[in-house]
Amino acid sequence: MEDKLEQLRLQTMQRLENVSGKKELEELRVEVLGKKGSLTALLRGMGSLPAEERPRVGQLVNKVRKQIEQRFDEIETQLDGIIRQKRLESETLDITMPGKKHEIGSLHPNNQVLEELIDIFLSMGFDVVDGFEVESEYYNFEALNVSSDHPARDEQDTFYITDNLLLRTQTSTAQIRTMEQTKPPIRIISPGRVYRSDEVDATHSPVFHQVEGLVVDKGITMCDLKGVLQQFVREMYGPDLNIRFRPSFFPFTEPSVEVDVSCSECAGKGCRVCKGVGWIEILGAGMVHPKVLSTCGINPDEYTGFAFGVGLDRLTMTRHKINDIRLLFENDLRFLKQFG
Ligand code: DAH
Repeated sequence: MEDKLEQLRLQTMQRLENVSGKKELEELRVEVLGKKGSLTALLRGMGSLPAEERPRVGQLVNKVRKQIEQRFDEIETQLDGIIRQKRLESETLDITMPGKKHEIGSLHPNNQVLEELIDIFLSMGFDVVDGFEVESEYYNFEALNVSSDHPARDEQDTFYITDNLLLRTQTSTAQIRTMEQTKPPIRIISPGRVYRSDEVDATHSPVFHQVEGLVVDKGITMCDLKGVLQQFVREMYGPDLNIRFRPSFFPFTEPSVEVDVSCSECAGKGCRVCKGVGWIEILGAGMVHPKVLSTCGINPDEYTGFAFGVGLDRLTMTRHKINDIRLLFENDLRFLKQFG
């Protein structure tokens, strides 16, 4: 019995030295010290010893058990130490390494100009409304007094989705939707994307941006249109600039005008930017056609209104002396970073 005990002790101690991980350690602990372990089995065997031998052997077994247990604990502490060490090593931060720079983006130049424009119109009491980019023929043409055989439908080459659905060619659609839903007085602007199947070149893009404006109330005249646009241009481009109206035609306004702003580059003398004219065309406008008002359920004998449509990309290009509209759509960071 004593020999067996000593053998087990030596064997266990030896195996303990070679344990490589905590899982193996636990397995060995169960194998030796567990309920069905080899030491426990030896202890049970004590029953066959003569009675006078039992106390001494019992003490011996306990001593061996303690020794083994102690060694198990020591080895466990050692293993824990190794594990912690490894974890610390893997988590070490090298605080001398150079940091990663987070680049801060900036608004697209179109959005910067749009924000300015919105601020100017908000200060004049306008609201900003959204429109839909996918529209029906009714909102894009018919309700705007462009009948199906009207030549204006050819001028604006349209992307059709179905016979009746299309990508809007103008933000003027927002006029109709607003007048359908709101009673006068109305004072809104509506910025957004518009689409035309144009060939891409320095001044054309199949997708571009407009901002629509609409005012409807009692007693609105062309003087109000001119006053609002004059104020807008002076806040946007500078206090010395002037605007002029040239007669034009749009099916949804009568009379219609094209609006030019005096060239800021040459103060109206004529230069390369304004192609020698001294003026730069910036928008179309006019008095809302009585037919358009009545289509939207507004009595044209009681109310009048003006509307305008600005090309936002054109504004941005004039503002920053950008000579190619494609730059606004290509998202080349070397270009965009100049407006950070
Ligand atoms: N929708 C016109 C276009 O895309 C621009 C325009 C002209 C809008 C006159 C208006 C307006 O509201 O009154 O060419």
